[in-house]
Amino acid sequence: MLSFNRHRRLRQNGTIRRMMRENHLSPADFIYPLFVLEGEGIIKEIPSMPKVFHYSLDQLGAELDEVVELGIPSIILFGVPNDKDACGSEAYAENGIVQQAIRFAKERYPDLYVMADTCLCQYTDHGHCGIVENGHIHNDHSLEVLVKTAVSQAKAGADMIAPSNMMDGFVTAIRQGLDEAGFEDVPILSYAVKYASAFYGPFREAVDSTPQFGDRRTYQMDPANSREALREAASDVAEGADVLMVKPGLAYMDIIRQLHDRFDLPVTAYNVSGEYSMVKAAAEQGWINERRVVLELLTGMKRAGAELILTYHAKDASRWLKEEN
Ligand code: PBG
Ligand code: ZN
Repeated sequence: MLSFNRHRRLRQNGTIRRMMRENHLSPADFIYPLFVLEGEGIIKEIPSMPKVFHYSLDQLGAELDEVVELGIPSIILFGVPNDKDACGSEAYAENGIVQQAIRFAKERYPDLYVMADTCLCQYTDHGHCGIVENGHIHNDHSLEVLVKTAVSQAKAGADMIAPSNMMDGFVTAIRQGLDEAGFEDVPILSYAVKYASAFYGPFREAVDSTPQFGDRRTYQMDPANSREALREAASDVAEGADVLMVKPGLAYMDIIRQLHDRFDLPVTAYNVSGEYSMVKAAAEQGWINERRVVLELLTGMKRAGAELILTYHAKDASRWLKEEN
C-alpha cells in the first residue's frame, strides 16, 4: 500500500477550487493610471502602450465614466504639460494640467478616489525627477519644489499624494508641507521602493520624460538589492508614509512579500508600463492568452502581498472579473 497525500482531492471541480482559493482579485484592488495633457479634442493612443491614451480635459469625462462604471475606485493622474523648464514650475502651477484634471475628476465624481503622482520629471526640461545643480540632482532643493507640488495637488482636491521622485526625506518634507497647509488628513502613498528599471521605457515615451543627460541611478535603486529596499521602506515608515509602493511589480515580487511581512502598512504594487506592453505585444501576436495571463499576473501580485495594484490593465481586468463572477 503506497502512502502519500492526495492534494488533488481539493482540485476536482470548479466549486471546490473556488472554495479553496486563497487570494481573490477584485476591481476594488485597482488604481487606474490616466495621462492628461493640455489642448482640446485629443484622445491619442500611446504607440508603445496599445489601448492606453492621452486625454485632453474635455475628453476625460467619458473615460472617467467607464472607470466608475467598472467599479474601479481610484485613479492616478499623470500630467503632460506643454511647457517644461529647469525647475518644473508647471508641476505646481495652480492651473497646471494635473491640478485642472484633479478638479475636473472630483467635480464629476466626488467619490472617485483621485491620486496625484508627485514628481518633476514630466515638467523639467532636463527630464530628471529633481532640481539639477552643477550636473547633480540636488536633494534638498528638489524637496522644496516637490512640497510645493504636493500642496498644489492637495489644494486642487487630490485625495492622496503619491510621490515617485526618490529624493531622500520626501515623506518628511511633504508631510510637513501638507500639514502646514491644513491637509493633515491627506495620506501619502510613498513610492518607497522604486528601482532604476528598464521597464519604464514606454511611460517615458508617453510623457516625454527621458533624462536629457545621465540616468536615474543616483536616486532610483539598484535592481540587485533587497536589503536596501528594507532601509528605504523603513525610512518612509518612520517619516509617516501611509501606504508603501513597490515599483516595478513583476521582477520584484520578493520585495512586495518582504515589505508586506516586515511593515504594518498597506503595500501597493506598480505593474508598470513595460510590463503592460510586453503582455500586449505577445497577445497581439497570438502567442499568449491575454486574459488569462493578465489575471494570473495580477493575482500573483496579490499573492505576493500587495493590497492594491496600480495597473494599466485595470479596466480589462475588471471587465473580465465581472464576467467570471
Ligand atoms: C516618474 C515616474 C515613472 C513612472 C511613474 N512615475 C518612471 C520613471 O522614473 O521614469 C513609471 C511608470 C510606468 O512605467 O508605468 N517619476
Ligand atoms: Zn520622476
